[in-house]
Amino acid sequence: MAEGGMCVRKLIDGTALGYSIEGRGPALVLLHGFPLNRAMWEPQVAALRDRFTVITPDLIGFGESDPPSDPDKMTMDTFAGAVVRLLDTLGHDRIILGGFSMGGYVLFRVVAQAAARIGALVIADSRAGADSDEARQRRMATIARIREQGPDAFLTEFTAGLVGASTKATRPGVLESIRRLVGTPPVPTLTGALAAMAARPDSRPLLAKIAVPTLVLVGEEDTITPPDAAKEMASGIRGARLVTIPAAGHAANIEAPQAFNAALLDFVTRL
Ligand code: MLT
Repeated sequence: MAEGGMCVRKLIDGTALGYSIEGRGPALVLLHGFPLNRAMWEPQVAALRDRFTVITPDLIGFGESDPPSDPDKMTMDTFAGAVVRLLDTLGHDRIILGGFSMGGYVLFRVVAQAAARIGALVIADSRAGADSDEARQRRMATIARIREQGPDAFLTEFTAGLVGASTKATRPGVLESIRRLVGTPPVPTLTGALAAMAARPDSRPLLAKIAVPTLVLVGEEDTITPPDAAKEMASGIRGARLVTIPAAGHAANIEAPQAFNAALLDFVTRL
């Protein structure tokens, strides 16, 4: 897997945010998931950069962005606010916005903060609802585990859940490359993001207010944000298109880049 393009860093509210900007054309911003970074979008950047200005930020703490100064205060709105201010700095007032998984949770907060700037949405392997009580408790247990044992065992276990059964059986190298891509983010980054995901609001009330073209993508074998969650989300957004990626799990954009890119390009080139 490549390095995710040349990284630029900009100071946003006192925190340096890393991002890549590649290509020419309408601005398309892609938000990565947990515990990944902007390099996860490399297969999509390669497919889009001939026609779009593709901006891939590292969310606060991930990739080449600074860790959060106060991890206990991190929220999805903090991540989203930094993205909105990055766009202000870059001078992009109308964008196509995409988010994968946690990046989708952040995407909903960008919609809440800056709906007028968004021309279209791409929501991949994510969900609109908040965590269940059990999911919240699991996140808190994970935070305690990371603080006690360090992050590496957790990251290796968690990464294994990102890919589907087909990828595990037939393309083991994909999991290894995702594990390398994840690296070892700083502990405050991981605990801050886990706490922020646990506390995130229910974004389902936003769905009916979305009035821009929307593509929802999901890996057929996604067990973290399964196809049912994608279906529910797509059915709440007027006119949304739902595409299921065969033989792919949660990390569908990396596991099955051809099918994922075909659906993505078909959508964004017809806007
Ligand atoms: C992600 O892929 O961003 C996370 O797995 C999402 C989550 O844990 O809810």
